[in-house]
Amino acid sequence: MVSAQRILITGATGFLGGAVARELQRQGYPVLATGRDLRKGQALTDAGIAFQPCDLSADPVALRRLTDGCAAVVHAAALSAPWGRRAAFVAANVQATENVVQACENSGVRRLVHISSPSVLFDFAEQSALKEDATGRARPANDYIATKRAAEQLIAAAVRRGLNAVVLRPKALFGPGDTTLLPRMIRVAQNGAFPLFGAGDPLLDLTWIGDAVQAVLAALRAPSRCQGRVYHITSGDPQPRSVVLRTILEACGLPVRFRPIPIATAMTLAGLLECVSRAFTLRRWEPPLTRYTVGALAYGQTLDISAARTDLSYAPQTDVLAALKRCGELWRASVQAGGKGA
Ligand SMILES: NC(=O)c1ccc[n+]([C@@H]2O[C@H](COP(=O)([O-])OP(=O)(O)OC[C@H]3O[C@@H](n4cnc5c(N)ncnc54)[C@H](OP(=O)(O)O)[C@@H]3O)[C@@H](O)[C@H]2O)c1
Repeated sequence: MVSAQRILITGATGFLGGAVARELQRQGYPVLATGRDLRKGQALTDAGIAFQPCDLSADPVALRRLTDGCAAVVHAAALSAPWGRRAAFVAANVQATENVVQACENSGVRRLVHISSPSVLFDFAEQSALKEDATGRARPANDYIATKRAAEQLIAAAVRRGLNAVVLRPKALFGPGDTTLLPRMIRVAQNGAFPLFGAGDPLLDLTWIGDAVQAVLAALRAPSRCQGRVYHITSGDPQPRSVVLRTILEACGLPVRFRPIPIATAMTLAGLLECVSRAFTLRRWEPPLTRYTVGALAYGQTLDISAARTDLSYAPQTDVLAALKRCGELWRASVQAGGKGA
């Protein structure tokens, strides 16, 4: 690991950054966490983690104060959503990354771990055992993908200038603290039969949050020959879509009902909803269905993680179905205790 000097975690008020900050602190590393949400920042402070708020896209001067004295930075902050205003994605994913890179260069940071996403390779097609050098669709399916690609390009340019950066592309994170993947699935199931786009049963390649955290720690420790490399990260246990859904819904105590919908029908509906959002809300309203979401649920995308296994000694141990069952049971217990679901 990069000595006993401080490690800055951006996006520490979010799912992955928060889990990384907590694990590094548990292992005794001096951590400095940053984000914008003061309530979540206070929760980190209460857990004994130093927290300094910063808007990474708007305040490069404050950011530079954070990177000074840090040996390493984990850049997990991003706007991660299927829909939204382009300017918001550019600010959070491109401008913020540019500012992080500059601050790392100026402060002499010795390792930057940049969190990207395998969605940069997304295409409306089955994709199996994708390697890191695969290429995605020429025209990105949404602004999240376009801006995550642009951020990777900024990192690659900084590596050519000498920055010691490693890029991780974790796929579909789940676990306690997830506000996206499982909560969205559960909400859909609560509203009736779960729509299954397309006739097949594609493989879903998920990543348990604990595995993603181990990957980040491994990237912080990785030798300098890994500089500039990109690594795919999953729990290495892809499962058919129907099995994933059945496991989570049964554990939640929700009815397991599926409604098959042809892909063409779903794409037409999603396209119409996107038009409504563009025309009447300037993209501020997120449609319940986008063409990207249809594609991501209709087509499987599995990743080859052998490079991370070899170079980073990344060794995921998680039984994905058992972990999904645990998450569902936690959600059910929380609802029974009068909460909104864990
Ligand atoms: N979740 C997944 O399944 C998944 C899959 C593939 C890749 N990833 C990547 O993994 C990373 C972490 O994702 P996540 O699920 O943990 O996201 P998340 O829970 O939505 O958290 C996003 C974090 O980014 C921070 N942030 C956004 N814009 C910011 C800005 N301008 N200045 C400062 N902080 C800013 C947020 O801070 P505040 O909330 O305090 O504003 C929050 O802490 C992202 O790079 C994402 O693209 C995630």
